[in-house]
Amino acid sequence: EFAILHGEIVKRSEAKVDVEDRGYQFGDGVYEVIRVYNGKMFTEHEHLNRLAKSTDSIGISLPFTNENLKGLLVELIEKNKLQNGIIYMQVTRGVALRNHAFPTEYVTPCLTTYTKKIERPVDSMRSGVKTILTEDIRWLRCDIKSLNLLGNVLAKQKAAEAGCFEVIQHRGQEVTEGSTSNIFIVKNDIVITHASDHLILKGITKDVLLVVCAKNNLRVEERMFTIEELKQADECFLTSSTSEVMPIVEIDGNKISNGIPGPITRKLQEWFGQEIE
Ligand code: PDD
Repeated sequence: EFAILHGEIVKRSEAKVDVEDRGYQFGDGVYEVIRVYNGKMFTEHEHLNRLAKSTDSIGISLPFTNENLKGLLVELIEKNKLQNGIIYMQVTRGVALRNHAFPTEYVTPCLTTYTKKIERPVDSMRSGVKTILTEDIRWLRCDIKSLNLLGNVLAKQKAAEAGCFEVIQHRGQEVTEGSTSNIFIVKNDIVITHASDHLILKGITKDVLLVVCAKNNLRVEERMFTIEELKQADECFLTSSTSEVMPIVEIDGNKISNGIPGPITRKLQEWFGQEIE
């Protein structure tokens, strides 16, 4: 297995970072997860653009162009003979003496990347998954794909302890997103999801799905919705690079759409499937 460290392909076992890497000490960095299907990246331009946006927003200047990066990723996929899986990449501000403020002298940002095999979650996509509601205790810049994931980690752990796949986070009455996914509801044939503002991550899968809805003349509302609307919804699902379009059939022990994936969710799964072929 190979990995990328500082723009070079190295043996996975040699990809090591310093104890004073700011990503390690402060979570001072950002990341991306890119899906690979049949040896090819899916929506890599969107992911690389979002990475550039994330680094920009925290004042890290990437020492690589998107084209350089893409070339490296293609090489890594080939060297690791990756068919189906993900590419994980992260960029930190680099290594410097511990001090909260940015280093005053230039340090090279630290880029690390590796691949992991995973298959499409076909069984749970067919059966749907269980979720629980939990208060969203994260910061107010959830639009940045930050390495600071403690809020998300604690939320996901709650789901795990409840025997659930994911949490549905809310700020007061307002539903935001999952811990690693975006949340959608369907009511009277209208697809509703939180607008991509500072309270959620602008998911690439979410955006692909919104285009798919438009293509198929399905009405979409990108707006705030409440816990009450969630409970009254006809259907509910989540999206992410690894979960695709994942039906939600239970929230806090209460069944949604009679405990089976709803018809619009299934249509969306089918249409999304066509996008990745
Ligand atoms: N998570 N919201 C959050 C908080 C996320 O962490 C993710 C992705 C998404 C969906 O984004 P996308 O459709 O671009 O994957 C929404 C990745 C998969 C992860 O952390 O592993």
